[in-house]
Amino acid sequence: MTKQLLLGQTIGFSGNPLLQDWSDTVNFDSAGAVLIERERIQAIGPADRLRTAHPDAKVTDYGNAVISAGFVDAHMHYPQTGIIASWGKQLIDWLNTYTFPEESRFENADYAADVAERTLDLALANGTTTLTSFCTIHPASVDAFFTAASARDMAVVAGKTCMDRNAPDNLRDTVQSAYDDSKALLNKWHKAGRANYAITPRFSPTSTPEQLEALGALWAEHPDCLMQTHLSEQLPEIAWVQELFPDARDYLDTYEAFGLLGEKGLYGHAIHLTPREIDRLKETGAAVVHCPTSNTFIGSGLFDLMGLAKAGLSIGLATDTGGGSSFSMLRTMAAAYEIGQLKGTAIHPAQLLWLATEGSAQALHMSGEIGHLGVGAMADLTIIDLASTPAIAQRTDRANDIWEAVFATIMMGDDRAIKDVWVAGKSRTA
Ligand code: GUN
Ligand code: ZN
Repeated sequence: MTKQLLLGQTIGFSGNPLLQDWSDTVNFDSAGAVLIERERIQAIGPADRLRTAHPDAKVTDYGNAVISAGFVDAHMHYPQTGIIASWGKQLIDWLNTYTFPEESRFENADYAADVAERTLDLALANGTTTLTSFCTIHPASVDAFFTAASARDMAVVAGKTCMDRNAPDNLRDTVQSAYDDSKALLNKWHKAGRANYAITPRFSPTSTPEQLEALGALWAEHPDCLMQTHLSEQLPEIAWVQELFPDARDYLDTYEAFGLLGEKGLYGHAIHLTPREIDRLKETGAAVVHCPTSNTFIGSGLFDLMGLAKAGLSIGLATDTGGGSSFSMLRTMAAAYEIGQLKGTAIHPAQLLWLATEGSAQALHMSGEIGHLGVGAMADLTIIDLASTPAIAQRTDRANDIWEAVFATIMMGDDRAIKDVWVAGKSRTA
């Protein structure tokens, strides 16, 4: 059976609801259908019409559940899965106390494989079909992640984390080994199946200027790769960057000066930005990634989602596991909503869902391929039960429209709301 017909309430997008009236960007059908042939979406439309047109298709009826594009997590650290929800530290102490000791365990390839598989399965259980992950300094940690993703047919982005200072001895590479290992891994994995390589300096405090320069040179040799790092997450971190790079105009300049600012750059957090940084991010077409559960959990600050969207920046949404406190993009959307409230803007559920799918895909330069409920896109889908717990069900019963119901699940839902996940045209439950 090559044709599959999925029935349910379909929600997709034809525009960016952060930049125009959200209601003009939504394609919603309360009795919709998605036709899948092999690994791609072949048609979307009213269930009646598609059933008649494709009598030979195998039908899966999800009832009132929502059929959405799969969630796209635009920034996370799979090696931190084991230390998620570690108590009581802010960024630099949190890295030294919890993160670095855990990341040093990834020297062991078996441990790396175990955590990679566990992380991807947790992501899928939460409706996330694409992860963008930092690995550790160990090349084997990159192999483990891409191997586990390939076994699950998942589109992923990942790279070897590079650090040659301000990290424990056993977690430091060098200028040359960071360049050589990243290059070898890039040549091995970039565009192998659904794998995408991202050149990955952790953040400027853990790289010497020479290492940043070498990675900038590598990016110039492979401009089709993404480059991921961290930017302006916490105020003490920014002060430290100023001490380490006294000549830099600002934090972004520590990347820009070494060829690490560009259209395919992904800058995690980006909370405390100066006007110059915002202008340069906009001019270069780089993307920033909102990590709301992490920003509250580590105590970093309130990301200015609406301000940066209006300034024209590309914005993705991410869990930032394990600085982030949840594997769920539903919980991540809820945290984005809460931070929006604290910033004075109520973010509409359509805008939240767009960020978790299309917005992240756009940040990753994978629009139309993933995070998209549209013809030609990969059939990476998430089926969302709008009555997954008694508390949510009683609220959904009272909902006057689809968005009231979706919002209740965004705010209160978790992996129990994920009824099914499709990856590359295959159901996880079939
Ligand atoms: N900045 C540098 N490394 C990290 C990390 O692992 N997590 C977070 N949240 N911020 C960072
Ligand atoms: Zn991060």
